[in-house]
Amino acid sequence: MRKSLVAGNWKMNCNAADGEALVSAIKVGLKSSVADVVLCPPFVYLPMVERVLRGSPVSLGAQNMSQHVGGAYTGELSAGMLLDVGCKYVILGHSERRAQCGESDAIVAEKVVAASKAGLLPILCIGELLAEREQGTTEAVISCQLDALLSSEAGLAALQSAVIAYEPVWAIGTGMTATPEQAQSVHAFIRQRIAMKDPSLAARIQLLYGGSVKGGNAEELFAQVDIDGGLIGGASLDAEEFLTICRAAT
Ligand code: PGA
Repeated sequence: MRKSLVAGNWKMNCNAADGEALVSAIKVGLKSSVADVVLCPPFVYLPMVERVLRGSPVSLGAQNMSQHVGGAYTGELSAGMLLDVGCKYVILGHSERRAQCGESDAIVAEKVVAASKAGLLPILCIGELLAEREQGTTEAVISCQLDALLSSEAGLAALQSAVIAYEPVWAIGTGMTATPEQAQSVHAFIRQRIAMKDPSLAARIQLLYGGSVKGGNAEELFAQVDIDGGLIGGASLDAEEFLTICRAAT
């Protein structure tokens, strides 16, 4: 039995006051939860969120990190730094970073390996563009993104501690959620692809769905056999909405 996980990705939203009010409300509303829950605020608010979350079962995560351990990388943050401020998880390869910051499958794979080696749990994001879905290449795109890790020993080792989030790019922030059947079909494909290399990992790895998950559609998405929770953007900025989603993940 895989445990469910719900991760909130605040992206570049909130100020300190709004963020503190949000995390406090989530802490109060989530005294106990069947699912694992993780909040991923902007870097500068990680220490504040860590402080507010103390004594709660909710974990802390970051939205990105460098693939390098340290050195002359202005503006970057290492896995060690994220661990220092209490992070347990790190989102890697989000489609916004792939599209806006030029992160290739190879760079994302390096980051996943670096995070896992350092002891962080990577949340690896993969997903196809609308044009790719329309051309019928969804599975080919997903395969490339996965194979960047599955094809090397270091990548396969890193996946042992990773979570994968399937986020169709056309569903992110658009209100156009994938249907439970569309999401399930890709999740099943991801699990099969991993099973070709490592059947026991395929059975155990948590696969999240992301892309316009809301309180109103979470339950039917999470009810799919290969969907183990969600990566939540917009709806994670509203405490009540986020709590409803967490309660839907059992
Ligand atoms: P959304 O974002 O829930 O706002 O669609 C999901 C994500 O980008 O992880």
